[in-house]
Parts: sequence; C-alpha cells; structure tokens
Amino acid sequence: MAQQMTIQLLLLLVGVAAVVGTRDRTHRARTELLNVCMDAKHHKEKPGPEDNLHRQCSPWKKNACCSVNTSQEAHKDNSYLYNFNWDHCGMMQPICKQHFIQDTCLYECSPNLGPWIQQVDQSWRKERVLNVPLCKEDCEHWWEDCRTSYTCKSNWHKGWNWTSGTNHCPVKTTCRPFHIVFPTPAALCNEIWSHSYEVSNYSRGSGRCIQMWFDPNQDNPNEKVARFYAAAMSGAGLHGAWASLFSLTLMLLLLLC
Ligand SMILES: *[C@@H]1O[C@H](CO)[C@@H](O)[C@H](O)[C@H]1NC(C)=O
Ligand SMILES: *[C@@H]1O[C@H](CO)[C@@H](O)[C@H](O)[C@H]1NC(C)=O
Ligand SMILES: *[C@@H]1O[C@H](CO)[C@@H](O)[C@H](O)[C@H]1NC(C)=O
Repeated sequence: MAQQMTIQLLLLLVGVAAVVGTRDRTHRARTELLNVCMDAKHHKEKPGPEDNLHRQCSPWKKNACCSVNTSQEAHKDNSYLYNFNWDHCGMMQPICKQHFIQDTCLYECSPNLGPWIQQVDQSWRKERVLNVPLCKEDCEHWWEDCRTSYTCKSNWHKGWNWTSGTNHCPVKTTCRPFHIVFPTPAALCNEIWSHSYEVSNYSRGSGRCIQMWFDPNQDNPNEKVARFYAAAMSGAGLHGAWASLFSLTLMLLLLLC
C-alpha cells in the first residue's frame, strides 16, 4: 500500500516536471528562433531599425541585423567585410554581381534566419546558417544571370589561396563558366556557401521559402516564413518531450515494481 502511494507520487512529480520543462523549453526556443541576429563577424547583437541602409540592403531598413556601414561595404569589391574578390576569374558581370550583393545583404541584415542558425567552431564566427530554404526563383535567376561569368571553384568558403590577403584561385584549378562549375541552379545555391542554402521547391510569395529579393515598400515576407518553420521546429520539440516523459515513466515503473 505504502509502496503504491510512493510510486503514484513519483509519477505525479515526474509528470509535473516534464510538463513544466516542456513549456519552458518551447518558450525559450521561440524567443531564440524569431527576430534574432546570428553571432558572426559583423552582425549587430540585436535587430533594430536602420533608416539609412544602402541600396540593395534597404529592404531590411525597418528591422535589420546589419549596420549602415555593413550595408555600404556589402556593395563594394574586396570590402573590409571579408576581403572577398568576386573577380577571381576576370571581372564578374554586374548582372551576376547584384545577386552576390543581395546574398550578402540577406546574410548580414536578415533577422529572420533564426530557425537555421547553427553553432560552429570557426575562428571568425560562432554561428552560421545551414539549409536556409531559398525560394526557387531567387536561385534560378541568380544562376541564369551568372551564366556569362567565370569561376574556378564550386565551394567559395574554403580552398582559396589567401596568401596575398584576398582570395585567388588555387593552382591546379581553371576558370570556367559558371554553368560548367554549377550545372544546375541548386548546385550553385547549395554548394557555393557549404549548404547555407538548400533551394526550396516553394515559390516566392508562398510563405514557405526565404526570399533574397523583396520590395522595400512591402513588409518583409520572411517574417512569416521564419514563424512557420519556428513553429514546426518547436512542435517537433514537444513530441520529443512527450517521448522522453513516456520513457521516464516506463523506467520508473520497471525500477519500482
Ligand atoms: C566601415 O567600418 C570599417 C571599420 O571601422 C572602416 O574600415 C570602413 O571604411 C567603413 N566603411 C564605410 C563605408 O564607412
Ligand atoms: C598562392 O599564391 C601565391 C602568389 O600570390 C603563390 O606564390 C603560391 O605558390 C600560391 N600557393 C598555392 C598553394 O597555390
Ligand atoms: C522538389 O521537387 C522535385 C521534383 O518535383 C523532387 O524531385 C524533389 O525531391 C523535391 N524536393 C523537396 C525538398 O521536396
């Protein structure tokens, strides 16, 4: 009799603890996934208004993770941001370069990438994004507009020769047209930054993919997208919590009976 009471009491305690823990965890997950800046090289600590964001970065002016300075630098060649040389195989065509500028604006300014932020062990940043679902048209236009430019590598995160202070093609690589190095739009968008993007099957305006380009006079369409994926992810967390509650209870029963 006394033993049964003890078991019931224990089960009750475990149940209460699990429910409280779950609520606490989902709450924390939400605040961390939405309206956040990653902990990287140039990001502000928290997003906020930036009235004077430069040209292509201006769509984020109502709420941004980038400073005005970062938005100006994003438009320069070999900017102080990363010293990155777009023209490593002759001049990158302006029609192509505008997509790389937009990609830099999204990366530096967006407060809506929270669901895809991952910790990394890199000297120059503590966090990165992984598998951001880029809208398919944004990737297709990027790929089409870069057909007439050249590069020597498919992953631009690593393998360059940096001895001169900026990136040059490593020996044993040759400059080839983009569409040879990247046979498909997905090859470009997914590979170029080590899977920071995972091209989506969804289209612009669907609310299910991140837009690199959007009208500065409209609200940022990526807010809704981040909310959707954040909810899906904390839903998964809830199921996980119920599964662990179930196994805990089972363990306790086995131990005590
Ligand atoms: C941005 O800030 C950096 C570091 O302080 C500086 O070197 C650079 O010139 C600034 N860029 C602009 C456009 O003001
Ligand atoms: C890197 O580039 C420098 C010239 O800037 C060259 O002397 C050196 O051999 C290159 N190293 C490699 C590993 O390609
Ligand atoms: C996207 O659609 C293509 C073709 O319909 C399909 O092969 C692919 O698996 C889909 N990808 C995702 C992530 O749903």
